[in-house]
Amino acid sequence: MSNPLLQLKDIRKSYEISGTLYPVLQGIDLQINRGDFIALMGPSGSGKSTLLNIIGCLDTPTSGQYLFDSTDVSRFSSSKLAEIRNRNLGFIFQNFNLIPNLSVLENVLLPGFYLGQENISKAHELLNLLGLDQKLNRRPNELSGGQRQRVAIARSLLNNPDLILADEPTGALDSKTGQEIMNIIVQLNQKDKKTILMVTHDRNIAKMAHRIINLSDGKIT
Ligand SMILES: Nc1ncnc2c1ncn2[C@@H]1O[C@H](COP(=O)(O)OP(=O)(O)O)[C@@H](O)[C@H]1O
Ligand SMILES: [Mg+2]
Repeated sequence: MSNPLLQLKDIRKSYEISGTLYPVLQGIDLQINRGDFIALMGPSGSGKSTLLNIIGCLDTPTSGQYLFDSTDVSRFSSSKLAEIRNRNLGFIFQNFNLIPNLSVLENVLLPGFYLGQENISKAHELLNLLGLDQKLNRRPNELSGGQRQRVAIARSLLNNPDLILADEPTGALDSKTGQEIMNIIVQLNQKDKKTILMVTHDRNIAKMAHRIINLSDGKIT
């Protein structure tokens, strides 16, 4: 039985630049079930990041309906979106998006501060699991790319999210390190039952997902 975590219904997004509307998403219908592992592919500029940002409650659609866990969040205020984000979503980015002047441990603790829940034992547990227990007090610029992405993965897991959104998580890594990061992401889905939506350019990486969605000119093809 399908068990929808989220549903998009005719989602559209346009950007206005000096009075002209540029459509980016042109009617997206998508259901993501709990436990899914989906790869999102498509040419540069096709709207992948825009779609991920809407699903990630970082941006709102121009029109259409977005149901997250059966709640319509498409007209939520930015503070209510932030709450959904902090409670339910984890983010992994191509360029890691770590805070440079915070230590590894502090970076991982950050999502807990937004919820007002300091969770030091959970941060230690995640950093141990990801092989970073010797790096707790390092700054991000003292780490390799693969280590930085593992810090970002630990951070994404701190609040025990339902859904992990990854925007080209291996895009800044060499292929061997990228494969190591993918093994972690696959385990998050298989072992920890996390629902994952991952943008990638790389067909071999996309094949590790259960389902591949192709975006072209703002539509799913
Ligand atoms: N904040 C913005 N303002 C105006 N145009 C934007 C904005 N964000 C994205 N775009 C445009 O929307 C299109 C899709 O961008 P994006 O979602 O980043 O594509 P992708 O991730 O597939 O490369 C591009 O043409 C981009 O220039
Ligand atoms: Mg993008």
